[in-house]
Amino acid sequence: MTDARDFFGYKRPDDEPGRRPEDEDGPDPDSPPALEEAITLDSPAVVARIDREDMLGRVRDLPRQLAKARQAAAGLTLTDRHRSVDLVVVLGMGGSAIGADLVAAAAGDRLRVPLIVQRDYHLPSGIGERTLVVAASHSGETIETVTAAAEARARGLPLVVIATGGALGRQADAEGTPWLRYEEPGQPRAALGWSVGLLHELLGAAGLITNPDPLGPVVAVLDELLERMGPGVETDANPAKQLAWSVFGRIPVIYGAGPMAAVARRWKTQFNENAKSWAAYEPMPEANHNAIEGSLNPRELAGALFVIDIRDPAEAPEITARYRVVEELLGERATNRATVRAEGPSPLARVLSGVAWGDLVSVYLGILYQTDPTPVTLLAMLKERLARSD
Ligand code: PA5
Repeated sequence: MTDARDFFGYKRPDDEPGRRPEDEDGPDPDSPPALEEAITLDSPAVVARIDREDMLGRVRDLPRQLAKARQAAAGLTLTDRHRSVDLVVVLGMGGSAIGADLVAAAAGDRLRVPLIVQRDYHLPSGIGERTLVVAASHSGETIETVTAAAEARARGLPLVVIATGGALGRQADAEGTPWLRYEEPGQPRAALGWSVGLLHELLGAAGLITNPDPLGPVVAVLDELLERMGPGVETDANPAKQLAWSVFGRIPVIYGAGPMAAVARRWKTQFNENAKSWAAYEPMPEANHNAIEGSLNPRELAGALFVIDIRDPAEAPEITARYRVVEELLGERATNRATVRAEGPSPLARVLSGVAWGDLVSVYLGILYQTDPTPVTLLAMLKERLARSD
């Protein structure tokens, strides 16, 4: 575990925040708290002071959103054109796109047609008329998604909108486009239960996923996991808090194979947005063909990374063999690492249990860095400046 003093560079006791000059009487109300008082995940008061907009509460909400999404999707009316397709393209960015990666990852070979997640201004090239386009945007205003959805409309492709409102919602209303509408104040990445649940139910209703996983057991798995590692469980008994401490002061690199590659990507983006931290992810087995060589230089940064393997108990034997050989080769060198095991009775449960784990760790890490996890100031400023420059 990183010593917090090392991380902040307070090598000399005199430098530590909160340390009073020797000659002063009584505590100085203006000085910052001592490090050991300020950095804890087990004091509700400290956590509430940093996690001001309650991102931990939003993470706890994932199963409730999933259950509500199932109900909301039940009212959707589709036509034959939505069902008779040989490709699905989901348009989305960031927190609204990752839900589609996760749904596709969990569905695996039960997906009856290929699914492309398109994070761009334009439709993928070469797609035919039998393409179902789903435009997913929490705000309904994301310019890349709105622009590509307009292309789909101009080409007369079957379109479904998943959004809280915005331009996509208004256009759907005006043109009678099927619109899976939901209400969830807060950040797009904190509405994952909606984006996963609505798309999963849409594809199931369109007959595009064979034997879709029932959502009820997924909700139960998530409820139990989020309680077991929630903020009320102290660090000594809480593996998510322990992992946040291990990552603290280091750059996380998350590995995942098969469906867990999408989970690893979610971890990366949640570390970025909740902990405001650098992070990277590596899909397996591709990582065995390049990343495995990349851990040597620069040597002075050898201890700066923290590797997290997200493992699926149902992973293929050839993947298990790869992890074993990597462990044999790198075991002693790669000391900063941990393994997280997904859990649950279905692929969707395992994918979302992996997500819930990472969402918690990322928020705990933000709290350790004393950074409010919710606001994404630079992202918001970027969007605003781009809109102004139109
Ligand atoms: O996490 C975020 O806030 C972002 O990644 C957004 O999801 C992304 O900018 C797209 O916005 P929206 O989800 O409103 O389409």
